[in-house]
Amino acid sequence: MSSIKAKIVATARSLPENIMTNHDLEKIVDTSDHWIQSRTGIKQRHVVGENEASSDISTKIALTLLEKSQLSPTEIDVIIVGTVTPDHFTPSTAAIVQNNINAKNAWGFDLSAACSGFIYGLETGSSLIKSGNYNNVMVIGVDTMTSILDFQDRDTCVIFGDGGGGVLLQQTKNNGIIDSLLHMDGSGGEYLIIPGGGSKIPASVKSVENRDHFIKQDGKTVFKHAVRGMADVSSKILKNNNLTGNDISLFIPHQANKRIIDAAAERCGISKERVLINIGKYGNTTAGTIPIALSEAVDDGKIKNGDYVLLSSFGAGFTWGSILLKWED
Ligand code: UT7
Repeated sequence: MSSIKAKIVATARSLPENIMTNHDLEKIVDTSDHWIQSRTGIKQRHVVGENEASSDISTKIALTLLEKSQLSPTEIDVIIVGTVTPDHFTPSTAAIVQNNINAKNAWGFDLSAACSGFIYGLETGSSLIKSGNYNNVMVIGVDTMTSILDFQDRDTCVIFGDGGGGVLLQQTKNNGIIDSLLHMDGSGGEYLIIPGGGSKIPASVKSVENRDHFIKQDGKTVFKHAVRGMADVSSKILKNNNLTGNDISLFIPHQANKRIIDAAAERCGISKERVLINIGKYGNTTAGTIPIALSEAVDDGKIKNGDYVLLSSFGAGFTWGSILLKWED
């Protein structure tokens, strides 16, 4: 087995400037600030402006990663963008970012795993680094959820937001990304889905009239699977590494609902003060939540050399997983 591991050498995030509060939503759908805050923990979310798309957010993230790691664009080998809201089906968002930052020597691709997009991307990037063939891999998680939200559907439009974050991975022989455990269960596909606009229901006047191009969710079913999925996979990765919840300095779960996070953390024995929750400010940015939170934690000095950091996600597919880091400065 290769002794090379991947470590995170830089983190970045980007949120669109515009903010939509719960009170703003009260004017659009039959909802209330009290319902949204008490059922989800969300107070506000960032939303893109006109003509602003996932590649614009990703380009800002990529430029910050270059600045923080002091690399030139030509040194980037691979760009992976986890997203379910690419600018287009093709070209990929990764290709647009590559052109925008002038990363002439990079190849890359978009990865579709919904809220697990960053976790799946981190595992993929880490494996490329471990192969020994690549030195600098960018992994970005980004979503412009307002582009697929139905603002007549209060079940979904109040919970999502726009934004993203990313990391730069390099080789190490010490710590960094020390373990991962990923899962998928396609039998859950129908519970969180954008039915139209793809090859199954191509875009047509009828598909638009049916609102098929918007995201639909059976919230209660997804909720139950999310708690169980994140708690099980996180407990298992801890056990596999002979750790307990007490050994984790910071737990960064996907931010879909504060109640899901609280329940999952409790089941893994991770106390509240070691759980990062920022859903109040951003809502659920899908593939964006974990890298946004990680970048905030790094900037706020919440992660020290040698700390165990646990990332965990659950999303459409169903897709879910955990990644364990032993932080290396
Ligand atoms: O990130 C990908 C994975 N996604 C998730 O993990 C999301 C998982 N699901 C959830 O977070 C929650 O299920 C929601 C936040 C989506 C919904 O919360 P809930 O506690 O499951 O509410 P519910 O759907 O059971 O609805 C409870 C009540 C219903 O009214 P009645 O039937 O009790 O009279 C709904 O009609 O709340 C009503 N309701 C609302 N009321 C005000 C549903 N949405 C709203 C709303 N504002 N936006």
